[in-house]
Amino acid sequence: MIQTSAPGKLMLFGDHAVVYGYPCIVAAINKRISVVIEKTEHNEITILTPGNDNHAFVQKTLSYCSDLWNIPKNIVITITSEFTGKYGFGSSSAVVVALVRALAEMVDVSISPRELFDGALRIVLDVQQGVGSGFDVAAACFGGTIVYQNKGAVIDEISLPSCCWVVGYTGVKANTVAMVQKVSELRAKEPATVDRICRLIGEDVLRARECMRVGDCKSLGEIMDSHHRYLQELGVSSDRLDTLVRAAKQGGALGAKLSGAGGGDCMIALVSEDSKISVEKAIQDAGGEVVSVSFHEQGVRRDL
Ligand code: MEV
Repeated sequence: MIQTSAPGKLMLFGDHAVVYGYPCIVAAINKRISVVIEKTEHNEITILTPGNDNHAFVQKTLSYCSDLWNIPKNIVITITSEFTGKYGFGSSSAVVVALVRALAEMVDVSISPRELFDGALRIVLDVQQGVGSGFDVAAACFGGTIVYQNKGAVIDEISLPSCCWVVGYTGVKANTVAMVQKVSELRAKEPATVDRICRLIGEDVLRARECMRVGDCKSLGEIMDSHHRYLQELGVSSDRLDTLVRAAKQGGALGAKLSGAGGGDCMIALVSEDSKISVEKAIQDAGGEVVSVSFHEQGVRRDL
């Protein structure tokens, strides 16, 4: 039996602008997707994904790896998750990364994290018809906290200061592809506006990187607030996200923003140890679900 796992992710800075070549900062989280491959007597590949019938990413991964390696037919692949797809934690990318690694282990091929990233990115972009920056694939492969840019041309591991984060789920599942298309349509109509906002988001990312390096959580919080305003201007926030971000700020957060595609999914708040409980309560009182998550976790690995 082979068992691998890869982490989900949360985008800290750079949402949407990363699609246009600007950097982003992403953290791998402590919620993982696990892949188990076992031999069976039946001469067919069986895929079990309890609670999820969308096999598109698994099928594409299998066909990609079968072109490279001699994948045996008599296997059962079971995929389980420590989080539901609804949060926007990057389950599809984590599945692809964990499965490529498991199949490589099965055929005894040693594959470097970079090779794994390049292959998994191709698979994910194929299924998503080219939409996406691939930052979630990088988080699943490399783990930790990463500055990511230009489809993997930059993947810099950075340290995460010891600030506290609170994650709030809006209760609404975001459609990433639709949100990316929405920004792209706005860009076709108002290129100067979108390019200006993306440039400002990119500048925020560089400032955030420096604040993280020196552990300046107060300034990091201010950057989160300005980031959220830029994302509102791009039209990707929602009433639910704005409500939770406002509640977090009123509860004492140093800063708060939506995380990822927008339109739903999660927001994140940066908090001091003293304000963590009041921010969590404020998010819950505003109708959000607090999701307990820690950042800077290990990338893909073999577990068994
Ligand atoms: C979605 O989680 C983040 C976006 O920047 C898209 C992407 O980078 O693939 C909106």
